[in-house]
Amino acid sequence: MTTVLTGITTTGTPHLGNYVGAIKPAIQKSQSENYDSYFFLADLHALIKCWEPDRIAQSTKEIAATWLALGLDTDKAMFYRQSDIPEIPELTWLLTCMCSKGLMNRSHAYKALVQENLDTGTNDPDKGITMGLFSYPVLMTADILMFNADEVPVGKDQTQHLEMARDIAARYNHHFGEHFVMPQTIVAKDQAVLPGLDGRKMSKSYNNTIPLWLPEKKLRKHIMKIKTNILEPGQPKDPNDSFVFDIYKAFATKEQTKVFAQKFAEGIAWGAAKQELFELINNELAEPRERYNELMEQPELIEQELLKGAQKAREFSVPFLKKLKNAVGIRPIA
Ligand code: TRP
Repeated sequence: MTTVLTGITTTGTPHLGNYVGAIKPAIQKSQSENYDSYFFLADLHALIKCWEPDRIAQSTKEIAATWLALGLDTDKAMFYRQSDIPEIPELTWLLTCMCSKGLMNRSHAYKALVQENLDTGTNDPDKGITMGLFSYPVLMTADILMFNADEVPVGKDQTQHLEMARDIAARYNHHFGEHFVMPQTIVAKDQAVLPGLDGRKMSKSYNNTIPLWLPEKKLRKHIMKIKTNILEPGQPKDPNDSFVFDIYKAFATKEQTKVFAQKFAEGIAWGAAKQELFELINNELAEPRERYNELMEQPELIEQELLKGAQKAREFSVPFLKKLKNAVGIRPIA
């Protein structure tokens, strides 16, 4: 059995990019007989960059309802809220003590913030940087090592964090015995990286997202806003140079994609192309959207699922942490 694990930070509203790049492939994998899956809501990570409590609470609810509405089988997969597993922050400390500060200093994300500070001419390179932000790769490492994940699907921007996780795991193993397996990074294929309205990667930091659960009319409106070039109806269009096509491809079968490419060659109007894109996406999302809306009206069902997931996950994390603490010398006296 291979263990696959991934988390989503609970700071925003789920969008089409999260769906295509992370949630949909994860749910597919979780249906395989060969995988044990661990999917979680990274709410402790949310605190690193978001100090709006209501936003974190709302995002946690929305992201949880999303996984459930899309059909995640919570009897087969472990589905939990990070903060419901107190062993994770406890493990974070054990790992923090096995992590050289220099490793964190070399984090791309941290270095970019320091550079931003230097560029504005401040005399404090660490201005606005909390310890949470600085050391969050260790928390992420604990998420992964807590359940000895073999595979960790993440976005490209997270690959350095996985290197750090392996580094920390190796150091722990070296000092205290072979407790951790080395987690492998699984980076989504390029076609799974969805462009946003402006063509850059769809991301809440670029403010170019299409929210996943927009009502039908609004979804159509958003899709009509995707940036295109000025080619007129009747003029042939290049499918390899169109965000409308890129997004279509992410939802379509190979056959549908071929037909759509043909229409581009024949000069389909942008409005008509976008209408087809809307229909394709809407067909896929209409049913789960209803389930999503129902769940959002019954938050106690979501809460129940999360508590059930945490209970199951802790059947593993509680004894494992005990073993890890024992290994470092934190043991009962008698
Ligand atoms: N840091 C990840 C992100 O921003 C989210 C995350 C937290 C995660 N813990 C994780 C992903 C553990 C994979 C495994 O995308």
